[in-house]
Amino acid sequence: RISRQALTLGTLETALRAFDGCGLKATATNLCFYRGAPQARLMLIGEAPGRDEDLAGKPFVGPAGQLLDKMLAAIGLDETHVHITNVVYWRPPGNRTPTPQETLACRPFLERQMELVAPDFVIALGGAAAKEVLGVTDGIMKLRGKWRQVSISGRMVPAMAMLHPAYLLRTPAAKQNAWADLLSLQTKLLDAD
Ligand code: URA
Repeated sequence: RISRQALTLGTLETALRAFDGCGLKATATNLCFYRGAPQARLMLIGEAPGRDEDLAGKPFVGPAGQLLDKMLAAIGLDETHVHITNVVYWRPPGNRTPTPQETLACRPFLERQMELVAPDFVIALGGAAAKEVLGVTDGIMKLRGKWRQVSISGRMVPAMAMLHPAYLLRTPAAKQNAWADLLSLQTKLLDAD
């Protein structure tokens, strides 16, 4: 498998650009691979690029991304400390949720990306990402704020779902949940220092 063979994020990106197995590529303008540091202690994984991301060719650069940056700044992190990506690398038409087939097609690339980034903590943003990354089917309201583990290169890495920043923009009252989860993340990051 081509994704397995990639030894660096650069070659993984080249492989993604050549990959025609995900139907979303046909309607997207740009590949959105990642934003932030190539290697980082914290990897954040969202659902799918939106319009702003598709135009920029980078994840989380629109309003949701700006809120995400503010949330990270609140616990002392900026783009240089994190690796930000999505479970699919191309924008779904009209921002619909990616289909299981579309997510599955991107999955080997995400797995290799996680291996190459080698984070110490993983955050899934929103229900769709939580389902995919954590392999669980509970709703996001039940999942959020609880630490679990994901296996990366045979290493058990603490992972947690948080509410999606796009949801927080629509539902400001939910920000108190997000704040609690951010503090839990900050504690983990400091404890492991
Ligand atoms: N929402 C996401 O899940 N990902 C992005 O990159 C932008 C918005």
